Amino acid sequence: MDRIEIGPKTFVVVATGAGISAESGLATFRGAGGLWEGHRVEEVASPEGFAADAQLVWRFYSERRKSALAVEPNAGHLALAKLEEKLGDRFLLATQNVDGLHRRAGSKRVIAIHGELFESRCAQCFEPPFEDKQTYLEPPMPKCQVCGMALRPNIVWFGEALDHRHLRQVREAFEDHRGDCVFIAIGTSGQVYPAAGFVDQARSFGAKTWLVDLDPAHEFAARFHHVVRGKSGEVLPQLFG
Ligand code: OAD
Repeated sequence: MDRIEIGPKTFVVVATGAGISAESGLATFRGAGGLWEGHRVEEVASPEGFAADAQLVWRFYSERRKSALAVEPNAGHLALAKLEEKLGDRFLLATQNVDGLHRRAGSKRVIAIHGELFESRCAQCFEPPFEDKQTYLEPPMPKCQVCGMALRPNIVWFGEALDHRHLRQVREAFEDHRGDCVFIAIGTSGQVYPAAGFVDQARSFGAKTWLVDLDPAHEFAARFHHVVRGKSGEVLPQLFG
């Protein structure tokens, strides 16, 4: 199998999607058996959906909290934590996953660009998000302790902006390490921006780009220099030189 050359100064940016958690037993989003099957995305993952039926939204994310708490990080998550141990500050992991498995595997330089499943925040006031492992399957729905309005999961929903500081961090990693940077996307279908655009940004700053995916989407894969087809838990432990 191919191996990624990582020199003594190489900076590595990794972007993960739902595929890296599949071998832990968590469903991905798209396709048969996916998390969106049986749901209209905008009903459970948009501010409008929450305004229309907060209980449905909380049921969806409560089920996901239960599933994520019941599983363990897999060999793919662990391989990335080990790589970070070796590289230290020459490593950045931007994950679209909200399941917390990277941190549980030991990754530290992680930015959760789509939010955190185990955090809640007020839908109205500006109190910061807080850790919340509870499930809300039945009424009453949770309320903000400060202003009394509805609490919501701290997830970036469709139609909402990502934290610009996260996006800047990714861009600066490419920019600051121009010429000696490797970008690796893992287990993502490349359908949701801005994460799907990281590969183009990486290339514009001269990074070498890799995609690791069990069933890479053709058009997305065409934008990478190298594509490794396979399960991330099997591929990643062998991929880093
Ligand atoms: P998707 O469900 O769109 O894609 C999952 C990818 O993982 C697919 O390309 C699969 O081929 C691949 N895959 C499955 N099992 C794998 C394995 N064992 N090893 C490697 N790859 C595997 O999930 P994402 O691309 O993460 O957003 O979806 C992006 C965003 O869209 C999510 O963060 C979510 C969703 O709507 C929000 O909830 C805001």
